Amino acid sequence: MLARLRQVWGTVRTTPADRQAEFRRWRKALRWTEIEAADLAHGRVVYMKTCGVCHMLHGEGGTIGPDLTGSNRSDLEYLLSNLLDPSGIVGRDYQTTIIVTDNGRWIAGIVKHETPTSVTLQTPTERVTVPLDDIDERVLSPQSLMPENQLAQLEPEAARDLVAYLRHPTQVRLPELREQRGFRGSEGGESSGGGATEGGRRPGLQPNPSKNGLF
Ligand code: HEC
Repeated sequence: MLARLRQVWGTVRTTPADRQAEFRRWRKALRWTEIEAADLAHGRVVYMKTCGVCHMLHGEGGTIGPDLTGSNRSDLEYLLSNLLDPSGIVGRDYQTTIIVTDNGRWIAGIVKHETPTSVTLQTPTERVTVPLDDIDERVLSPQSLMPENQLAQLEPEAARDLVAYLRHPTQVRLPELREQRGFRGSEGGESSGGGATEGGRRPGLQPNPSKNGLF
């Protein structure tokens, strides 16, 4: 069974009905009209916190997952399918291997290097080399190393800003500290004049200082 799993290109799962509903909900929430109200600079901050540990974008970020710069990220459907169902399609290079060692330790990660005597796994937090002699069991997991439900764990406006930033073709400037509230970060275009832009934002889409900890 495992041998067969390894032969096929990655793992493709069928999408259950509740996931279809999730897709519909987010597709609606992230329509272009909403995206245009988005704060790209804030999106970059959300990206760095949420995705940057694992993914490179515009030359910034980690290398655990694929570099997203040249991906199909301008396509909302592409982003949604990866974000809502990370384990749906996992490329062979990024499949998760689970190793159980003789002394009962579990390590889940992507195989980065193998020698005749050891295997090196990249976990979400570290790179671990395990001697083959210490391995009790080794299985390929259909589960992606990428966490599920990341969008749902964000404040709605943070999710919107993140997706707008991901879809944006080029890097944007980080928010400036003096613009902590009410800024609209678009490539150095508008900047906030005191609290003036606050009123221009859509009601219900204000950054929430207490909850997402970004402000
Ligand atoms: C713990 C590490 C980790 C985090 C955090 C993470 N990802 Fe991933 N991501 C991965 C891995 C590993 C893959 C490759 C396996 C897969 O397709 O699931 C991946 C795949 C993807 C892909 C498909 C890329 C391709 O070329 O196939 C996209 C798009 C993506 N991630 C976006 C994101 C976004 C956006 C975030 C932040 C909300 C994020 N990821 C957070 C690890 C992570």
